[in-house]
Amino acid sequence: MASASTPDPSPATELPAPYGSGPRAAGPPAASTDPQTTRAAPIKRVRTHHLQAAKDSGSKFAMLTAYDQYAAQIFDEAGIEVLLIGDSAANNVLGYQTSLPITMDEMVIFSRAVSTAAHRALIVADLPFGSYEASPAQAIGSSVRLMKEGGVHAVKMEGGAYYAETVRALTAAGIPVMAHIGFTPQSEHALGGYRVQGRGAAQQALIDDAVALAEAGAFCVLMEMVPAEAAAAVDAAVRVPTVGIGAGNSTTGQVLVWQDMAGLRTGHIAKFVKQYADLHSVLANAAAAFGDDVRKGTFPGPEHSF
Ligand code: KIV
Repeated sequence: MASASTPDPSPATELPAPYGSGPRAAGPPAASTDPQTTRAAPIKRVRTHHLQAAKDSGSKFAMLTAYDQYAAQIFDEAGIEVLLIGDSAANNVLGYQTSLPITMDEMVIFSRAVSTAAHRALIVADLPFGSYEASPAQAIGSSVRLMKEGGVHAVKMEGGAYYAETVRALTAAGIPVMAHIGFTPQSEHALGGYRVQGRGAAQQALIDDAVALAEAGAFCVLMEMVPAEAAAAVDAAVRVPTVGIGAGNSTTGQVLVWQDMAGLRTGHIAKFVKQYADLHSVLANAAAAFGDDVRKGTFPGPEHSF
């Protein structure tokens, strides 16, 4: 990561090199850039201007949720450009039915774990339900906590044009905002459950929300569960990059909840999820094998004993 006194010399149009490319091996940032030493170059942080450059140049970026240090480190080293401490930690870590109960204190703890472990990705945290709706001042207070105590670089906020004033205040305070429109899980009770948004005549309202939030200063607009055609229209209407989850393939970035992406979660799998692994089976088989070994008395063996 470039420090405040070390300007990032990479061209704004290029995403910082992933781990393992060029002279730098995987692991935390090295202390020196001295080409005369064997030390590798420090890893460069992905910043909001890199995401804008990706949109401007027609390239794409990837985003995954992360809530703990190992997932954050693995995804960061795999080259995922944006890590999101989603309030989906409520359903995916804490066992709640919805994202509504998660608190600021819990979001700060998850954020700190991720920001401590990831050295390249841009790190974004959700403003949880109840932490920003009352006023721009409340949103600033909550965001400052996520940045100061949680170490994140930006916040994500659910809601449409109504929140443009809040986005303007956050941006003026130096807090980068990713806007989240379409299906917004914190409003699931108002929206009548998990339902596709922005269909038919509602497409124009989706575009109006995105334009208002981008004009207010949001550096990126995330769309959840909207028709591909509507997402493409939003992407065309705003200068800033867009990210989709269940929003087709026209957005600049794509995001998935990591437990969905890696097949850790079982049960109903949303249509927009692609599972790239079967982590549930891997862990279940490992746990069963451990249990068998213990019951048979074959673990620990001499090689695991002092
Ligand atoms: O909280 C979350 O994980 C999210 C993603 C679904 C984008 O907001």
